[in-house]
Amino acid sequence: MKGKILVTGGTGYIGSHTVVELQNAGFEVVIVDDLSNSTEAVVDQIEQISGIRPKFHHFNMQDLGLLDRLFEQSGGIDAIIHFAAFKAVGESVQKPLIYYRNNLLSLVNLFDCMEKYGVNNLVFSSSCTVYGQPEKLPVTEHTPRMAAESPYGNTKIICEDIIRDYTKANPKIQTIALRYFNPIGAHPSALIGELPNGVPNNLVPFVTQTAAGLREQLSVFGNDYNTPDGSCIRDYINVVDLAKAHVISIERLLNHQNESVFEFFNVGTGNGVSVLSLLNSFEKATGQKVNFKIVGRRAGDIEQIYADTTKANNVLGWKSDTTLEDTLLSAWNWEKRIRKID
Ligand code: UFG
Repeated sequence: MKGKILVTGGTGYIGSHTVVELQNAGFEVVIVDDLSNSTEAVVDQIEQISGIRPKFHHFNMQDLGLLDRLFEQSGGIDAIIHFAAFKAVGESVQKPLIYYRNNLLSLVNLFDCMEKYGVNNLVFSSSCTVYGQPEKLPVTEHTPRMAAESPYGNTKIICEDIIRDYTKANPKIQTIALRYFNPIGAHPSALIGELPNGVPNNLVPFVTQTAAGLREQLSVFGNDYNTPDGSCIRDYINVVDLAKAHVISIERLLNHQNESVFEFFNVGTGNGVSVLSLLNSFEKATGQKVNFKIVGRRAGDIEQIYADTTKANNVLGWKSDTTLEDTLLSAWNWEKRIRKID
């Protein structure tokens, strides 16, 4: 056993893939999750993939008393990966207080417990949303952050600020924030993947649900952007590759290889892919045609963003190596398994 890692939000989409990679790398994992956007069956699936059942605690981290008890009972936590947060951009515009209360309080409570129980290492789940629409592409970690478009995005900016201020005041606490670009795909076993609540907001779950016949037609939001084919450009990162970036970050912290108390890294592929070319790759990878129509732009969408991953490549020694087609095929295999399609 290389160390005990508390994974908050560990039954969620990125969390569950990270738990598998942590266990594969020899770490012991304790999960806390309120199951607001996942189910306890994910713990069984994690066990099926890795042969190890992580400990699971069901509560919301806004409850400091329960979190404190978890730290007390678990004893000897070496590091934490903090995924637990609400993440629906549109919902956050409608219900901002729910987002501020949940996403900010969870981090504050976590730092309280880390201080009390002497846990000094944290990996935080951040987002490229902190860059808004950057003037220059690709974005490096020096690209200035911009005012957020949504309360959700603002919680990521504020959480990064809380980490900056807290680690400055308490330099024993070491934190790495990973700024994810667009995570997609599923575990190659198809036992875990993305399970959106209701109608998906994100592109790839909508694509796979349309191919599976659950949705009649995909709406492509805009073909009049200033991009080669007019549709928006993103950096789609394979979820297992992303999970591995967390394991490397944890090892970096535990081995004291970090160069400052608060480091951050872009985690993407470095490739910008348009919505229309993603559809093309999906068809090539799976043989499935996706019924789509071009509609108007979606409010708040960024025209294009993709990562400069030099820092993650050179400093973390991490690189995404799964092709877009393999990743889209994994998303389709997951959709087929949960919908029982042959
Ligand atoms: N899109 C469509 N049709 C759909 C859904 C999406 O055309 O039905 C397009 C969007 O307009 C966008 C692209 O597909 O151009 C990707 O959209 P997603 O909703 O999948 O992802 P976003 O880049 O909008 O948002 C993601 C995360 C957010 C995060 C943001 C950071 O979902 O949590 O990246 O930029 F804040």
